[in-house]
Amino acid sequence: MARPIEIAPSVLPVDFSRLGDEVRALEDAGVDRIQWDVMDGQFVPNLTFGPAVIAAARPHTSLPFEAHLMVLTPDAMAARYVEAGCSRLIVHAESVVHLHRTLATVSELGATAAVALNPATPASAVAHVLDLVDMVLVMTVNPGFGGQGYLSSMEAKVREVRAMVERAGLADVVDVEVDGGIGPDTVAGAAAAGANVLVAGTALFRDPSGLEHAVADLRSRALAARPLAA
Ligand code: DX5
Repeated sequence: MARPIEIAPSVLPVDFSRLGDEVRALEDAGVDRIQWDVMDGQFVPNLTFGPAVIAAARPHTSLPFEAHLMVLTPDAMAARYVEAGCSRLIVHAESVVHLHRTLATVSELGATAAVALNPATPASAVAHVLDLVDMVLVMTVNPGFGGQGYLSSMEAKVREVRAMVERAGLADVVDVEVDGGIGPDTVAGAAAAGANVLVAGTALFRDPSGLEHAVADLRSRALAARPLAA
């Protein structure tokens, strides 16, 4: 059974002075989960929010939260993000020495583990941890900022990761997510390559027809583009 298409907004573009209202608006607009772009100013040249901000938003929506840990020390803080209400933690393969152990620890904390790959990191980096994750995130920008240009060259990696997941017999349990520059003009290429979870920030919030239209439009474009067998 193919994994469903899911829309996971990045909260980077929201008005943080109205965070509760903003996450409620995202839920009302029909998104499937919310991605929190956690940045430490070390792993990426930007600094965003910690577990306290995520915990403040938690009571305002029933949507699942996933923390995209763009940090150098995911082991040190993983438990705090779970306590804050994140049911999935996305660990960058490049951010730890012992990726297998870190992903196993995330599961021991009661969250689901996911692994992210920066543009320069090959798909083979996740070959021996697919059994520990329920999602592989293929970055389609260099992480750190919203509003960047989509790297279409990453579609080959999406195809490679999707093929690895299928060869491992995990097609009905492991999602393939893309993040960065995803919008009406780029989502079809990503979905056709095998991505089923689409992270978008800028494109969702700049749609002149509003958030609900942006979410529905992205979803329909992805559904129309995905391979039939998927
Ligand atoms: C990069 C961030 C962005 C954000 C979405 O570190 O992770 O990819 O989520 O950005 P845009 O605005 O490109 O959808």
